[in-house]
Amino acid sequence: MNSPKTGTVDPRLADSAFLKAARGETPQHTPVWFMRQAGRALPEYLKVREGVPMLESCMNPELITEITLQPVRRYGVDAAIFYSDIVLPLKAIGVDVDIKPGVGPVVDRPVRTLADVEAIEDLTPEHVPFITEAVRNLVGELGGTPLIGFAGAPFTVSSYLVEGGPSKEYAKTKALMFGAPDVWEALMTKVAGISAAFLEVQVAAGASAVQLFDSWAGAVNPTDYRTYVRPYSTSVLERAGALRQGDRAVPRIHFGVNSALLLDQMGAAGADVVGVDWRTPLDWAIDRIGPDRGVQGNLDPTLVFAPTEVMTARAAEVIEAGRRAKGHIFNLGHGVIPSTDPDQLKRLTEFVQSYPSA
Ligand code: CP3
Repeated sequence: MNSPKTGTVDPRLADSAFLKAARGETPQHTPVWFMRQAGRALPEYLKVREGVPMLESCMNPELITEITLQPVRRYGVDAAIFYSDIVLPLKAIGVDVDIKPGVGPVVDRPVRTLADVEAIEDLTPEHVPFITEAVRNLVGELGGTPLIGFAGAPFTVSSYLVEGGPSKEYAKTKALMFGAPDVWEALMTKVAGISAAFLEVQVAAGASAVQLFDSWAGAVNPTDYRTYVRPYSTSVLERAGALRQGDRAVPRIHFGVNSALLLDQMGAAGADVVGVDWRTPLDWAIDRIGPDRGVQGNLDPTLVFAPTEVMTARAAEVIEAGRRAKGHIFNLGHGVIPSTDPDQLKRLTEFVQSYPSA
């Protein structure tokens, strides 16, 4: 059994196609996992979540373990992603945040002033003992399948704190960014520290890779990204860059949506692998990201609703395009859509894993 307490890593992880691709080594096949692979597309998820509010489920080690394992069992994907949410650390330090079904994260008292920022605590491992317990359980259960830990990037998490909920325009967030740079800096620094600490807890308990989700970073242009967003994501990725599992560095994946014009900077912020959303042609993305980093992505998540042979033909194009990258991890170009047929994702997984290597 894996015992991360003593720093022993399951020897089978050395053969992981996902970890090899993430490190730019040659995997036996193109590895595949799906963003939001745990969740509403799975009837077994809906069953165990019955009557349990989302964030409550994220604080229960048994439920976290079960829900994280469900897609691994069903699809046989090459990596598990820890079941939690980007706003869970905020909840754990006492921020008044909830996840409303069909809406997303909602914050009762939005953050707008320096005093609001200063009232937010820093995250320590003592705030999230259930995360440590769940990750330890999971790495024991997963054996040779790596566990990806994750956190929300400062911009995306801050957008929920400032807006008070999901947003289309990010007007309040950007008004703070442009109009109150001192508050912005304090907020982004605070959230960066929380996100980095959340990743550290997951890796200390046994996660072998991390993904930083900056889903909404595409709301800013490349110049503003450089000034107002990137320094804080860099600080999270730098802290994550010091993390080890056994004697190996923990690969860092950095993902955003509508991020075509940011891909070079998202790599340079300190990622080993850059996640590419489905709007961006993968070969074009590889040119922007350059030869020093791998890529992850990027099948349009709606292609699973097409006939299987149409889906697999497009998946083959993604795999072929990915060959030019330093490493390629197959994924959808954003999360699994809840109405997705799990059987179709299973067929997609098998297709990618059995696709001949170059
Ligand atoms: O399987 C996995 O990917 C692991 C678990 C995971 C969840 N959220 C579970 C979840 C991960 C990695 C996240 C990250 C997350 N959360 C992001 C970044 C990824 C992305 O999709 O861009 C963001 C922006 C959030 C914030 C958030 N939480 C949103 C927008 C929503 C969906 C709201 C809705 O109902 O459509 C959530 C809720 C959420 N997080 C669900 C799950 C499984 C659905 C909860 C439910 O069952 O009702």
